[in-house]
Amino acid sequence: MPNQPIVARFPHIIHGGDYNPEQWLSWKDTIWKEDMRLAKLAGINSLSVGIFSWAALEPAEGEYHFEWLDEVMNLLAENNMVAVLATPSGAKTAWMSQKYPEILRVNAARQRQLHGGRHNHCLTSPAYRRKVTEMNTRLAQRYKDHPALGVWHVSNEYGGECHCPLCQAEFRLYLKNKYGTLEKLNAAWWTSFWAHTYTDWEQIESPSPIGEDVLHGLKLDWKRFTTERFVDFYLHEIKPLKEYTPGVPCTANLMGTYPGIDYFRFAEVLDVASWDSYPQWTGGDDTVLGARTAFLHDLTRGLKDKPFMLMESCPSATNWRPVTKLHRPAVHKLQSLQALAHGADSVQYFQFRKSRGSCEKFHGAVVDHEGTENTRVFKDIAEVGECLKGLDGLIGADTPAKAAIIYDWNVRWALEDAKGFLQSQTGYEETVIAHHRSFWKKGIPVDVIDPTRSFDKYSVLVAPMLYLLRQGAAKKIDDFVQRGGIFIATYITGYVNETDLCYLGGFPGDGLKETLGIWNEEIDSLYPQDENAICWKGKQYRAKDFCELIHLQGAEALGSYAADFYQGRPALTVNRRGKGKAYYIAARTDDNFLDDFYAEIASEADLKPALPGSLPAGVSAQLRTKGKKEFVFIQNFTNEQKTVDSGTEGLKTLAPFESVIVKRGS
Ligand code: GLA
Ligand code: ZN
Repeated sequence: MPNQPIVARFPHIIHGGDYNPEQWLSWKDTIWKEDMRLAKLAGINSLSVGIFSWAALEPAEGEYHFEWLDEVMNLLAENNMVAVLATPSGAKTAWMSQKYPEILRVNAARQRQLHGGRHNHCLTSPAYRRKVTEMNTRLAQRYKDHPALGVWHVSNEYGGECHCPLCQAEFRLYLKNKYGTLEKLNAAWWTSFWAHTYTDWEQIESPSPIGEDVLHGLKLDWKRFTTERFVDFYLHEIKPLKEYTPGVPCTANLMGTYPGIDYFRFAEVLDVASWDSYPQWTGGDDTVLGARTAFLHDLTRGLKDKPFMLMESCPSATNWRPVTKLHRPAVHKLQSLQALAHGADSVQYFQFRKSRGSCEKFHGAVVDHEGTENTRVFKDIAEVGECLKGLDGLIGADTPAKAAIIYDWNVRWALEDAKGFLQSQTGYEETVIAHHRSFWKKGIPVDVIDPTRSFDKYSVLVAPMLYLLRQGAAKKIDDFVQRGGIFIATYITGYVNETDLCYLGGFPGDGLKETLGIWNEEIDSLYPQDENAICWKGKQYRAKDFCELIHLQGAEALGSYAADFYQGRPALTVNRRGKGKAYYIAARTDDNFLDDFYAEIASEADLKPALPGSLPAGVSAQLRTKGKKEFVFIQNFTNEQKTVDSGTEGLKTLAPFESVIVKRGS
């Protein structure tokens, strides 16, 4: 089934962003009208409204003022724009905090927070949940038939955690459901360590700097519980939305690899994934940042395995960065098209009109304080708007990836606590991104998934540092290999199980020793000034940070260590198993090894790049396909001119940060 447009009736790339007309209520006759004129001029076809509007919608308990939002929604409809309509729960009102103190979040040190900021409400509080239901029901009832309504933007950037007594009680319930008995929980968390055994459920508290901080199993379960709290809160929020507007897609804007929520789990309840992307372009050689942003887009696409929304991005200077460097010419278009290249069907900004006061008054926006279309940034945006108008055909296009890389929040959480190896440089995320970067440099499409997702459509599966093995993951990987897949694992794989207990009988555990045909006896952590090397195919590649001392147990050694007391011992292995192969890279290397290694894998698995020739450094080529139609996004992430063989359209010279789209097929 081909992917549908995000808003079924609107087969265009959504172009718009956060709009806060309530900040300009007293200027509505002038500024709101002017906003519509400017939006049209910029090719903007959507605005996200209501995100932080609670105080304007319900200034006192039970006193509702929707008339201003009616007017805004009508303006959007009159101007053929899609409303991305938010629920306002991202920031509670002052009167609410005053009247219902239980709403105020409690931090890990057990301090109840004062009113202020945002994203700071308790996730359990019945009072807040009731207010949310009342508000969301009114919004859904009022706008269910409104012609502007396109997408529900639920809350804003869910995040943080609450340690209040209400949340503690929910945590205990979660644990009771999960473990059934304290005996099982004690065993799973290894609580006999330091006499931390629990004898009453009420003794269990969330992790805290002033309390329990050493039980890794508890800490992992707390992270999982927090994810479940957000899932639960989100389901609570969308209940009335689904009741009154079942056909309107709901999303919650995510934040890349934000550590506090397992987005693969959370995405199960979203209709469409969306995220807020704020790369800090340097204006110099931005290859590494370009590759990193590519990874984050691929990750967001992987959450639902279909096109996503770029819900926020900054059209110029992001004010919360230490340095607010302006986007160099062409960079705005570069970052906007990069999202599309990786599967977005929208380009949206924070924010449409710059606020006049408070902490975001200097954050980049479509319309500056100056207030007209005569700014460089506005013109950049209008240029993107014009370009997007020609891309309706892209809507719903797929990313034809035959390779997938695993990124697992559980691994990340467990590694943060591992207390071993090289604590200052565990580098899980950076390692996954480094492996991803090798594919990016070659223009080979790749998905980012976690072990809960299907491996069926892939011929290559890469799992860097899969330290923790979720239940069933090892078996699933083995099946993948037996069926003919190529699996690549690295150092620090299969050390602990799902509750963070080390595998007995040798790493990697849970049967992965057999899949990989190796046993990892020890890991050597290197000081930054230390290095070893992997000798492979007559070349030496630097090894750094981690070198594992592995034994062959069925695998064949392809490469070996060049130095130290383990010189000559295997550092790169392959195990033939069933119809497939499983590789093990025992040491951390630089990109040059990964680039050569994945070149071999790509040719072995016949992974097709977007363009036939090799790409110059810093240039990416991403492919999206729709039936026989193909779109190749060729982008230059450097401040130098680059020449690329575009295939069907011959050589193309790209100016610094330039993007071109080559269309192939009919
Ligand atoms: C986040 C928020 C927005 C805004 C931007 C600023 O992404 O969702 O409300 O604060 O950051 O970059
Ligand atoms: Zn709470």
